[in-house]
Formats: sequence, structure tokens, C-alpha cells
Amino acid sequence: MTHLRQGRAAERPDNSALSGRTADAVRPGGQGAGEAIRLEHVTKSFDDHKVLDDVTLEVAEGKAFCLLGRSGTGKSVTLKHIIGLMQPDQGHVFVRGKDITALSGRDLSDVRRSMGFLFQNAALFDSISVGENVAFPLRRHTDWPDSKIRETARAKLAEVGLEDEYDKMPAELSGGMRKRAGLARAMALDPDILLVDEPSAGLDPITADEIDQLLVDLKKHGTTLVVVTHNIPSARHIGDELAVLHDGRVIERGTAEELDRSDDKMVRMFMRSEGSG
Ligand SMILES: Nc1ncnc2c1ncn2[C@@H]1O[C@H](COP(=O)(O)OP(=O)(O)OP(=O)(O)O)[C@@H](O)[C@H]1O
Ligand SMILES: [Mg+2]
Repeated sequence: MTHLRQGRAAERPDNSALSGRTADAVRPGGQGAGEAIRLEHVTKSFDDHKVLDDVTLEVAEGKAFCLLGRSGTGKSVTLKHIIGLMQPDQGHVFVRGKDITALSGRDLSDVRRSMGFLFQNAALFDSISVGENVAFPLRRHTDWPDSKIRETARAKLAEVGLEDEYDKMPAELSGGMRKRAGLARAMALDPDILLVDEPSAGLDPITADEIDQLLVDLKKHGTTLVVVTHNIPSARHIGDELAVLHDGRVIERGTAEELDRSDDKMVRMFMRSEGSG
């Protein structure tokens, strides 16, 4: 595979106009280096199963926040709250200081437009080509001419190493390639906030490292990242801050080094694991 990030610098086009902010308002070192996301006392149950139990966390602008925890502890549910796909039973979710729990319709979709989201199962539309999957948000949210949309979608595919797959159908891709195509689609609008659910699950270690590096590069350009991962080496590489969810609660948070020294045995065990996937 050719290296993943070809052409990336050229491909942050006039995005600031798109998401309605000026570049240096959110760039590291610029003014406004505040809080991108905050969950405040979020509780969520399905039937009588309490999945999130008074979860409070915040993600600083331009930082990478890695959410760790065993299977079924509510990591994906947490991401879905941040993007407003799920609403808390109690508590609030703030994106850039705006309480999105109170939003719906147009207001919510405006907030969502500044966020990219890679679902855990990288759900692509099966009936359109890989390239058109990536182009989809551009067709929906911009009035760019077709040539510019295709060019941008192609560049996003190149960033994840899929430059030759534009015209393929999703069914023709491997699982890892579908995941990368999903990431390209999540990045299509150059979101200020990128939420990714297990970006390297199912990828070979070399591709997984390249995806990690791509995320680190996005962060260097000022993107705020929330990454759910079982891959601890990856979380160490990407994350400025890590948090461990367990039994619906954040049981530990801090830098990787701080988690290594946690008083909680399970947290220390987690941090020692090399597991991915
Ligand atoms: N839409 C839903 N309806 C009912 N229950 C749900 C729904 N979504 C999630 N759950 C439940 O919430 C719990 C947490 O699910 P979640 O998908 O957040 O886990 P996770 O931490 O992402 O796990 P994994 O690491 O396996 O992806 C699970 O018990 C799951 O069954
Ligand atoms: Mg999950």
C-alpha cells in the first residue's frame, strides 16, 4: 500500500466556510482553546439495564481522548450521545458549550455537521460505489461542482490508502478496507471533531499503525478526536488523555502514564494488555 497520507495538506479546502468558523479559532495555540465536548452526569438505561451511570467527562479542543473499557461497557453508546444519536435519560451533553440534549432538527444537524463519525461497523451504503460513499456527505452538505466533490472524495480515499478503489462497490472490499473507507467518509467534510469507534479493529498491524498516524496528523491540524479502542498501544500513541469505562462509570482517567500507575488493578491490567480488536 502506498503511504496513507498522500496529498493531505492540499485537501483541507475552504472548510472553514463550511463549518462556519475561522481556522485559528479552533487551532491549537489559537484563541478559543477550550472544551470541545462535555458529558455532564449522563445516565442512560435500556429497559432496566443501566448502561451509563452518571458519566461526566470533557474533551479539550484539539486533543485526542481515548475511551477504553471492556466489551459492552457503553463506549459506543457514549459516542452516540456525543453525536446526538442517543439522548440521555438524565444529564447533559455539550458540544462547544452548546447543550445538544435540548436540540433537534436543523439545530442538531448543524452541530453534527462539524463532527465526523466512524461507526464501529463502518456501515457503508452497499448500493453506491466506495467513492460515492465518501462523496455522499459532500453532495449533501455542499454545493460544490461534481468535479470538486469527486476530487475531494478521491483525496480522502488516498489518505486512507484506498486511492484505487473509488469505483469499486463496498461488497468488493475487505473488512479492513471498508473500515478505512468509513474513516474517509467521516473525514470528508474536514470535521473539527472526529469520533471514531475502533478505527483499527480488523486491520493488519501495519495498516493499523498508519491509521493511528493519520489520526495523530489530523490532531496536529487541530481536529479534536474521540477514539474508542481496545488497542492499548494505539491509545498510548494517539491519546492525550485516556478514560476507562466500567460498569457504566468512568473509573479512571488521565494520561497513559497516570493510568499505568492507577490504584485500580483492572485499569493496570488493561494498560498492560497488547490486545487489539
Ligand atoms: N439501541 C440499543 N438498545 C438496547 N440496548 C443497547 C442499545 N445500544 C446498546 N445497548 C446496550 O448497551 C450496552 C453497551 O453497549 P455498547 O455498544 O456501548 O458497548 P461497547 O462498550 O461499545 O462494547 P464493544 O467494545 O463490544 O463495542 C450493551 O449491553 C448493549 O446491549
Ligand atoms: Mg462498541
